[in-house]
Amino acid sequence: MKKSGRGPRPKTKPGAGETEAVSGVHILRWAHGGDGVAVPETGPLAGTIVFVPESVPGDVVDVRLQERKERWARGRIARVVTPSPERVAPPCELQGRCGGCPWMAGTPAAQARSREAILRGELGKRLGAALADTHVALRESPRQLGYRLRVRMGFEVAGGRVTLGFRGKKSHALVDVGHCAIADPAIDAALPAVREVLAARFAGGARAGRVTLLAGDAVTSSARAVAGWIEPEGGEGFGFGPSEVRVAFGRFSQVLSPRAFAQANAEVTGQILDVVEAWAREARVGHEEAMAVELFAGGGTLTMALWAAGWRVTAYEVDGTARAAFETTREAQGVPVERGSWHAADLFIGPPWPVPERPHLVVLDPPREGAKDVIGWVAASAAAEVLYVSCDLATGLRDVATLVQAGFRLDDVVGFDMFPHSGHQEVIFRLRRVG
Ligand SMILES: C[S@@+](CC[C@H](N)C(=O)[O-])C[C@H]1O[C@@H](n2cnc3c(N)ncnc32)[C@H](O)[C@@H]1O
Repeated sequence: MKKSGRGPRPKTKPGAGETEAVSGVHILRWAHGGDGVAVPETGPLAGTIVFVPESVPGDVVDVRLQERKERWARGRIARVVTPSPERVAPPCELQGRCGGCPWMAGTPAAQARSREAILRGELGKRLGAALADTHVALRESPRQLGYRLRVRMGFEVAGGRVTLGFRGKKSHALVDVGHCAIADPAIDAALPAVREVLAARFAGGARAGRVTLLAGDAVTSSARAVAGWIEPEGGEGFGFGPSEVRVAFGRFSQVLSPRAFAQANAEVTGQILDVVEAWAREARVGHEEAMAVELFAGGGTLTMALWAAGWRVTAYEVDGTARAAFETTREAQGVPVERGSWHAADLFIGPPWPVPERPHLVVLDPPREGAKDVIGWVAASAAAEVLYVSCDLATGLRDVATLVQAGFRLDDVVGFDMFPHSGHQEVIFRLRRVG
């Protein structure tokens, strides 16, 4: 990535509701939501936490305030006075307009440092003394661009014109996307064909909805392919391209449909599967007859690592469309049916049902909301070990704190760069019951 002395192209005049620019604001760090953060020591903002989108740690900027509260304020860059040495030209012309990639104007090294600081900082705030013997590690994504194999976009068709893209930053307006720098190149290449399908299907009138695209290999050949699922608002969903593709996650692969959940970054998911397999293998020593429960199992992506480690798995998941992927994956891995059962269960309204036999290991990978309705069941279960895969640090740490209070020790934490150019990270927590 090219270093750049340029900042974002600033709008120099105040917009509606904006103040005159406050000059010389030093950006200290990124917040995990994506904005730069400053805490000026002097001047009109002294002691106020100031959030500045599109800024990079190390920038000195003039800021036009758009929102001011007692303890914090938010404003946009009016002028980059001194660019951070870690500022780069974003390799995407939509950066700053579409809602994704808020850290793209910083080097990968700056992003990695920020992710680590956020992970260690949040761990310390939430768990404090309970971290005394916890080992913390971070892994980077092998690819910074073209890494996203699953993309969800919005569409609008009106008067024969198709808008296909992401919701704009802090707005609901769709930003039309011709090229997405982080999407798998096969997804990028499929966008014109998706537009054609939308234009032909809704030629007669206005329509809006969403499109999910999943890149992989064709099921019967090694050619790249994109499977899509188009959901018009208030109408029946329909497919684009093949109904499924084969996705490789490191040493593992499975056939997935765009209709069910799939991990976003194939290589990083491969890293996660390696860690889950290694930890699951260690957990099995001396407990070879025991079983594992997997919650929020989707189509069995993490289950592949549990099977590779020798576990018998009872899996729970709310989305019925994921069952087929689980069964196909089990068969493809040569795992007999007694070692893998999948049950439809809503884990936001209660514990897994049918009630599993006493698990020695519980693995859970909930959505952003976390697992607050089922974590009490995990704590009260017979599990001696828990592997918690979290895509949201706040809810993940809330649930881990519940387990620590219930008598588990947090032994290991690994942060994964699942979403380069954003503050989101995937984190695995390994907990063992004490005593
Ligand atoms: C982060 S994904 C993980 C899926 C799977 N482990 C994987 O790697 O593909 C979270 C999963 O939780 C499922 N889920 C969401 N809400 C749920 C609920 N209330 N009960 C059970 N599963 C739910 C989603 O359908 C999704 O498959």
